[in-house]
Amino acid sequence: MSRQASTDTTPWVTAGRRRKAPAMFTPSAGSPLNGGVHVQCVTKTFTQWQRENAGKGILRNLLKPQKKTVHALDDVSFTINPGEFVAYAGPNGAGKSTTMKLLAGMLQPTQGTVSVLGMSPDKDRIRLMKKLGVLFGNRTELWWDHPISQSFEWKRVVWDIPDDVYKRNLEMVTDLLDIGELQKTFARELSLGQRMRADLAMMLLHSPTLILLDEPTLGLDVVAKRQMIDFLKKVNRENGVTIVVTSHDMDDLEEMAERILMISNGKIAYDGSFDGLRALSEAYGIETQTVVIKKAPIEQVIAGLYKAWK
Ligand SMILES: Nc1ncnc2c1ncn2[C@@H]1O[C@H](COP(=O)(O)OP(=O)(O)OP(=O)(O)O)[C@@H](O)[C@H]1O
Ligand SMILES: [Mg+2]
Repeated sequence: MSRQASTDTTPWVTAGRRRKAPAMFTPSAGSPLNGGVHVQCVTKTFTQWQRENAGKGILRNLLKPQKKTVHALDDVSFTINPGEFVAYAGPNGAGKSTTMKLLAGMLQPTQGTVSVLGMSPDKDRIRLMKKLGVLFGNRTELWWDHPISQSFEWKRVVWDIPDDVYKRNLEMVTDLLDIGELQKTFARELSLGQRMRADLAMMLLHSPTLILLDEPTLGLDVVAKRQMIDFLKKVNRENGVTIVVTSHDMDDLEEMAERILMISNGKIAYDGSFDGLRALSEAYGIETQTVVIKKAPIEQVIAGLYKAWK
């Protein structure tokens, strides 16, 4: 995580107290929720070196290394308006995490332009991180060998979060994500669900106006998942925080988001409502999840892959 020089001092939450009527998240008054996300004609190409581990293959690795070019994103364009809750779905390797990394400034596009909250994630990364919350379900920002509270405190200092903002946000996330009992525990001693809730809490301490979540419900039990979904819906609907979330669980996505963007083989295959996707799937009359991927139109592939969700 980047060291932050200063941060927006507008509180993310009002001065609500625990156990009263739910404390309210408020959009930053001094920084209107403008900008959204604009992705225009973005292509991201990776080079993957092919290696063999045995016999002559090892020699070949040295003398004639083979490489494979992967078009993770292929001319992708979409816009996400401020305050939207958008599901980003697609099969393994479709390009979801790559998109999230581009939006967060962790990767640069090979071609095309990306604008997030009116900024270039590549050029304005530090400024953008003050307004952005990013959570990858398969990794943690918590200090492994320290109590959770230490990681939170670290974030307060490094991000220069004003005391009143920090206190209010900490109270809010502690209450709503039920992490009060966990704060003195080492991160490495937490269960997956506990760790995810603690990571989500830490991600929110600086009052982000846009949240990017890559598989946040990965491996969570029913209770932890319920808690996370309710929390995200609340943050979005009551406080206008823009959220983009990826998951392979279509039920979770439909419960959270009103709009779904589907990606397949690096191309946007569907952008619209869940009902529209359902209608599309029915229109193609797909009866099984087994579709001949190479022959089917991309929408049919997507709808077929997610048939079980109907
Ligand atoms: N750093 C990298 N170097 C080389 N290839 C990569 C890299 N990151 C991703 N890829 C490739 O880009 C493609 C898209 O990967 P990505 O991680 O975006 O998929 P995904 O939609 O998130 O899949 P999943 O559902 O499995 O998480 C894949 O073919 C992957 O192998
Ligand atoms: Mg991924």
